[in-house]
Amino acid sequence: MENTILVTGGAGFIGSNFILQWLERGHSQVVNLDKLTYAGNLHNLKAIEDNRGYEFVRGDIAERERLRDLLAFRKPRAIVHFAAESHVDRSIRGPEEFVRTNIDGTFALLEEARAYWSGLGQGGDGFRFLHVSTDEVYGSLNLNDPPFSESTPYAPNSPYAASKAASDHLVRAYHHTYGLPTLTTNCSNNYGRFQFPEKLIPLMILNALNGKPLPVYGDGQNVRDWLYVEDHCSAIATVLERGRVGQTFNIGGWNEKRNLDIVQTICDIVDEMAGRGASSRRELITFVKDRPGHDRRYAMDATKIERELDWRPKETFETGIRKTVQWYLNNKEWVHDVISGSYRQWIETHYSS
Ligand code: NAD
Ligand code: TYD
Repeated sequence: MENTILVTGGAGFIGSNFILQWLERGHSQVVNLDKLTYAGNLHNLKAIEDNRGYEFVRGDIAERERLRDLLAFRKPRAIVHFAAESHVDRSIRGPEEFVRTNIDGTFALLEEARAYWSGLGQGGDGFRFLHVSTDEVYGSLNLNDPPFSESTPYAPNSPYAASKAASDHLVRAYHHTYGLPTLTTNCSNNYGRFQFPEKLIPLMILNALNGKPLPVYGDGQNVRDWLYVEDHCSAIATVLERGRVGQTFNIGGWNEKRNLDIVQTICDIVDEMAGRGASSRRELITFVKDRPGHDRRYAMDATKIERELDWRPKETFETGIRKTVQWYLNNKEWVHDVISGSYRQWIETHYSS
């Protein structure tokens, strides 16, 4: 095995933050396998495109031959698996791609990882397969329920959550049946730089900046537990290096917030940072029809990762959300490219046949 890690989905929101942080921490040799769906954006990785310790490979995790070759040639010591379809609303409109990538794709990756790892014999002792998953597999909490722990039964409600739950079960089975050295992390909602503006926080920041309506689903009282993306990335690195094989770890920010409170906070910060006109941006808030099957509350009990691996989030929501709004204000070119779709031009020029 080389010192290389193979990251899947590294051109997406969390994957690109992870790669940048990993290299900043002095590691090298990252191979990023990404299909470049609408959510994959190589602009996120501009800072390292000439870094000799980093290689980008365009490909689909469901293509087994490609995976086999990549593993044989690059000989990674770990696979960190982010690649997924990740947005609940899209999974409601079109669940098929979620089944294909999140379930079939994870299955293909597990099969090829198993064959590669078996072939390493004793040399494969340090190999790890880290599967990045979500708190949404646990279903929905009532307001007075305790937060999700690692032993909370799975009860996924959306097609997205069901597809992630299925992939978690496959990972679990590959450890129990074949001994594949797996680790699974289940994390709460992330926010920060490079998040595609279909998700709540970047959508609200950009709409508030542009004076557009801020669509709050239902009564706006749904609760999510928010974690700054850099904290999520440091937690994944910690689990990869020190987590006990076969274990799962819940990751969260101890930061439960109601959607309406988040949107109001964003309005106030945008008013302050971008200048306020005659009226507060709070007036743009519009209550719209609720999401079908909308989970009421997610909250994570992240005690295990703190106790076993001494990891805690560094950022509070108050500091993280200000950094995030500032980032979207400072990175107009990134925003413009994403909104206009011109970030896709790179793909057309490099990959047109
Ligand atoms: P994202 O949608 O921003 O990025 C997904 C990336 O995967 C994209 O670069 C895309 O091109 C790539 N991809 C999609 N299908 C692929 C395929 N078949 N083969 C190869 N690459 C493919 O997602 P994200 O928000 O960065 O989430 C990353 C992971 O973290 C996902 O597994 C998600 O379930 C999990 N997660 C996300 C959050 C969150 O709040 N965003 C929270 C907990 C867990
Ligand atoms: P989202 O960012 O899509 O993440 P998830 O559904 O995975 O938690 O949504 C976060 C919360 O914000 C969720 O309760 C749905 C709500 N929401 C809105 O109210 N309006 C919106 O336009 C979006 C995208 C989400």
